[in-house]
Amino acid sequence: MAQAQQQYITTPIYYVNDRPHIGHVYTTTVCDVYARFMRFAGNDVFFLTGTDEHGLKVEKSAQARGISPQQLADENAAEFQRVLSMFSLTNNDFIRTTNPNHERQVQLFVQRLLDSGDIYLGQFEGWYDEGQEEYYTETKAKELDYKSPISKKPLVRAKEQNYYFRLSAYQSRLEELFAQRPEFVRPEARRNEILGRLREGLQDVPLSRTNFTWGIQMPNDPQHVIYVWIDALFNYITALGLAEPESETYQQRSKYWPATYHVIGKEILWFHAVVWPAMLMALGIELPRCVYAHSFWISEGQKMSKTLGNFIDLEAIQRYLSVYGLDAWRYYMITQGPLGAQDANFAAGHFHEIYTAHLVNTVGNSASRVTQMIVKYFDGILPGETDAASASDTSPVMLDGFHWPTICRETVERCTKHITRLELAEAAAEGLALIRKVDAFINATEPFKLAKDQTKRDQLAAILYQSAEAIRIASLLLWPIVPDKMTALWQALSLSIDPARGELHQLAQWGGLPPGSQVQKVALFPRVEPAAASTAG
Ligand code: MSP
Repeated sequence: MAQAQQQYITTPIYYVNDRPHIGHVYTTTVCDVYARFMRFAGNDVFFLTGTDEHGLKVEKSAQARGISPQQLADENAAEFQRVLSMFSLTNNDFIRTTNPNHERQVQLFVQRLLDSGDIYLGQFEGWYDEGQEEYYTETKAKELDYKSPISKKPLVRAKEQNYYFRLSAYQSRLEELFAQRPEFVRPEARRNEILGRLREGLQDVPLSRTNFTWGIQMPNDPQHVIYVWIDALFNYITALGLAEPESETYQQRSKYWPATYHVIGKEILWFHAVVWPAMLMALGIELPRCVYAHSFWISEGQKMSKTLGNFIDLEAIQRYLSVYGLDAWRYYMITQGPLGAQDANFAAGHFHEIYTAHLVNTVGNSASRVTQMIVKYFDGILPGETDAASASDTSPVMLDGFHWPTICRETVERCTKHITRLELAEAAAEGLALIRKVDAFINATEPFKLAKDQTKRDQLAAILYQSAEAIRIASLLLWPIVPDKMTALWQALSLSIDPARGELHQLAQWGGLPPGSQVQKVALFPRVEPAAASTAG
C-alpha cells in the first residue's frame, strides 16, 4: 500500500456580493470530486473553499442597503455555506476573509514584505475596472475599448498613492518557474496565454487602497487598506496558519502546504499564476504544485446573462435537482463541464440526453439487469464465481476479451491516473466503460438463455458473479461523482463500504464481493420526461 499522502485542493474564495450560481457550484464540485476520490484512495486531504468579503463593492452594496459591510458579509457568507451544503460538498473548512485569524496573518505577511523591501510607497495612475477592482495597462485597456471585459462598463481613469508590490523584480524568476515546471499552470492553452503576457514585461502591482475602508489595514499605515486581491490570495495559506508557526492551526495544517491544486476560473488566472507565486517567492514559501484554470459555462449557446433569461442561478439549478436529483447534476457538471480549455454549453436538452444515455440506460440499467437476474435465478443469494455444484472446466467463464480481473485492474489504474491529473471527465468515462463492458458481456453470454438449462448453472453463476463484481468495482470509481446512488447500490449488494477509511484500492481488488451475500434488485436512475427542467420551464 502506498503511504498516505497529503493533498490540498482549493477553490477561489467567492465574492460575498454575488449570489451563488452555476459557476461557484461547478468549481466547488470539481474540487469535491477530487477530494472524495483522493480520501477514498487513502490520502490525507484538505479541501478548502470560502468567501472573499472585503473591498469597495461590498462596502457600496452594504451602504445601498443601509447595513454594515460586516452584516452584509455575514448574511451572504451564510448563504454561500447553505447553498454549497446542498451539493454534498465535503470541504474541510470554509474560510472567510473577515475572520480575525485571516486578518491577523495577512498583516503579518504584509509586514514581512515591507521588511524585505518587496513593498514600497508610490504614485499610480491607470485604467481601473470598478466592478473587478482591477487595473489594466494602457495596451490592455485599449484592446478592451476602455470597457470592463466582464461588466462592459467604462473603465475609469484613477490616480492613487499606494503601496506597491515589486512584481517587476520577479520577472526572471517567474520565467524560470514556467520553463522548469511546464505543468505549473494548466491547461496548456492557459499557460501559453500567461507566457505571452509575461513576455510583455511585468509592472509592479498596487497593494493598498485609500478610497475605501472595508478591508485589512496596512500594518504600518492605517490610512491604507490592503487591496482585496492581495488579501484574498493569502487565504490559501492563512487557512493553514502559515504566518503563525506557534498556532494550533499551523500544528495541524501546515503539513498540507504546498497546495496540490488551486482550481480557479480562467478570468482570475493572472493573479494566481503570476502575482501569487511572486508573493510566495518574496516570502520564501514553497509554490503550489499546479494552478488549474478551467473555462466557463455558457448557457443554451450564449454567455449567461440575467437579461437573456439563460442565467443558471440557484432557482434554475433547483429545477434540475428536483427533476433529476443531485447525483445527476453532479454527473453532468463533471462529465460535460469546462475543465479543459474550451467553454462548455449548458443546455436543457443536452442535460436530458446525457442523463438518459449515461445514467438511466447504462449505469442504472446494467445494475438493475444484473441484480434482477441474481434475484430471479438465485433467489437473491449471490452465487460464487467457481463454486456451483456442477463446476467444470468451462467455469469461470473467460470469454475472449473478458478477462475481468485484468480489465478491472487496468480500469482502476487508468481512472486513478486521470483523477490525479484532474481529468475528471476521463475518469468518469472509465467507470462508465466498465459498465458498458458488463452489458456487452451479458449480451455475448446470454445468461437469460443459460438459465433455462439446468446443466448450465455453473456458467450462469460465474457470469452473474463476474457482472456484479465488475459493477461493484465501477461503482467505487463512480462514487466520488454520484455518491448517493452508489451508496444505494452498495446497500442493494449488502456491502458496507465507508470511503472515509481510505481503502479504495484494496476494495477494488477482484473478488471482493462475497458469494452468499443477499442481493436486491435496484432501480437507481428513474426515467424522466424530456424538458421537465428546461431553463424556460
Ligand atoms: N473573489 C475572487 C476570487 C479570489 S481567489 C483568491 C472571485 N470571486 S467570484 O465570486 O467572482 O468567483 C469567481 C469564480 O467563480 C471563478 O474563478 C470560477 O471558479 C467561478 N465561475 C464564475 N462564473 C463562471 C462560469 N460561468 N463558469 C464556470 N465557472 C465560473 O473572482
